[in-house]
Amino acid sequence: MCGIVAYIGSREASPIVLKGLKRLEYRGYDSAGIALLNQHLTIYKKKGKVADLEETLAGRNLHAQVAMGHTRWATHGEPSDRNAHPHRSADGKLAMIHNGIIENYTQLKSELVHKGYTFTSDTDTEVLLNFIEDIRQNNGCGLEEALRIALKRVTGAYVLILMDEDQPDMLIAARKGSPLVIGIGKDEHGKTEHFLASDASPIVEYTREVIYVNDHELVIIKAGELVLKNLGNETLTPFVQRLDLELAAIEKGGYEHFMLKEIFEQPDTLFDCLRGRLDSQKGTLTMAGVENHIGQLKNASRIVIVACGTSWHAGLIAEYIIEELCRIPVEVEYASEFRYRNPVINKGDVIIAISQSGETADTIVAIGKAKEQGAFIFGVINAVGSSISRISHAGAYTHAGPEIGVASTKAFTAQLAILTVIALKIAHEKGSISNTRYRGLLDELHKIPQKARETLLLNDSIRDLAIKYKDAKDALYLGRGYNFPVALEGALKLKEISYIHAEGYPAAEMKHGPIALVDDTLPVIFVATKDSCYHKIVSNIQEIKARKGLVIAVISEGDQTIANMSDDCIVVPETDELLAPILNTIPLQLLAYHIGIAKGCDVDKPRNLAKSVTVE
Ligand code: G6P
Repeated sequence: MCGIVAYIGSREASPIVLKGLKRLEYRGYDSAGIALLNQHLTIYKKKGKVADLEETLAGRNLHAQVAMGHTRWATHGEPSDRNAHPHRSADGKLAMIHNGIIENYTQLKSELVHKGYTFTSDTDTEVLLNFIEDIRQNNGCGLEEALRIALKRVTGAYVLILMDEDQPDMLIAARKGSPLVIGIGKDEHGKTEHFLASDASPIVEYTREVIYVNDHELVIIKAGELVLKNLGNETLTPFVQRLDLELAAIEKGGYEHFMLKEIFEQPDTLFDCLRGRLDSQKGTLTMAGVENHIGQLKNASRIVIVACGTSWHAGLIAEYIIEELCRIPVEVEYASEFRYRNPVINKGDVIIAISQSGETADTIVAIGKAKEQGAFIFGVINAVGSSISRISHAGAYTHAGPEIGVASTKAFTAQLAILTVIALKIAHEKGSISNTRYRGLLDELHKIPQKARETLLLNDSIRDLAIKYKDAKDALYLGRGYNFPVALEGALKLKEISYIHAEGYPAAEMKHGPIALVDDTLPVIFVATKDSCYHKIVSNIQEIKARKGLVIAVISEGDQTIANMSDDCIVVPETDELLAPILNTIPLQLLAYHIGIAKGCDVDKPRNLAKSVTVE
């Protein structure tokens, strides 16, 4: 979703900001803009890609040492030049970029209209900006004070950056609910410079010193000095951290697309997320987040998993694993639903929040609500230092590295590995797993990175399958047990990347509806590796074949039975049924990727989608 980036220092600001906008493209957007402050405030903005904005800028004088840019994912008002950010205040003096939603903007707007304000866009951002301007004029106060007063009236989420034409050595930013990172660097003369961004990707090539701004904080950067305050005007001590991120991790590294790179990284990311945690020879698992809170976790009366999208699918698989191994009841909730109902939270409940970005707005609010009611929050997060990791009581990072492709791939398989480790550790401490089963699963987990590598050898054959099935209008993904959520994830990947309508279903449940869709044009992808549901799914495949559906089956090595019944087979390495989702997902990711490519889709930036959904 919206990306923001700003620079203030002594270098040319616009190349830094434009490059930063490109680094943020992966978040998903439909227009882009930049504001430059060099005596006068100049704004350029354009519907479309950052490249379209660059075309508009070609040949112009972009000299400035202060600039800010924005990629907009439309919420209020269609994607258009005039709705793109930055916005300018009615008096022409202020410019603002904003990520989030101002929920009471209609009320604020009608107050401003009453005072004679007119608006050039349909956005909530322009309303907030003029609201700030109006306070500044009527209260005779400075911009910082006006912003503080305005934010006390605002409901909703925001991260915003303001520029003032009359104070060209200053940027002011504020945050509530949307992410903001500040980089503190030194230019070639050793002078301090500052970078502000939605995440660290535009910052990492200039500095490793960062501050993650918290909710309800204001940042004032003036004449090279940074001051952090709360809305009560108290000065705070910034917590400067060292960024643990390599530039190579956010570049394509020879791959045509981030999505393919990230699919192929999975043997390494699985290895990384188990490194230092799993010692299969000694039979030990180390995970401080679980060890330090083991009493709370093993005695949980109930575990509620909250997540969105692909992370929610990981939660569904974790439900099966935790119930099987730990014998603790588990519920899996869409964060967006959980936050708006009146869920029963009891003392002793544990909430596991799963999120790649750690910034998904619904997940943040959902766990905030559960925390208020006394639940213990455990975060399973990929992005280090993200909001959810900071508001959780405890947690475990998935260590999959930055995920840039909008469709989540390597983060999902890392989530599955970590959730399995968590379940195994709780079960072992609780005594709900036999030693033999425990050691067997540890051995198998140890082999997973290598088996993921073997699974990737399927790439060429899956590319051929993609050519064969690329013109399908619909697709059905079916699985049972641990493989049912894999079917959901396979269908989601296909929808996201190729725009083919796809549905995931529990294989037995298809008789209650989806079977009506089956004819000789419908590809039905069965995730049917050998597990405790195997014989049942063989019958389901027969039911589809009897209706002339086209069966593509993901099967275990040596499974001649399903191979004989299917139109096409994808043979994956054998593993324990608990761990099979990690391997079985990989060919479905590749299938979606290759179909997307065959159809000419922009697989890294699918239409309408955002990587990090920072508004509800
Ligand atoms: C968006 C992304 C998905 C992701 C979901 C949840 O929809 O496009 O790939 O699964 O958000 O994001 P999270 O960062 O919380 O895992």
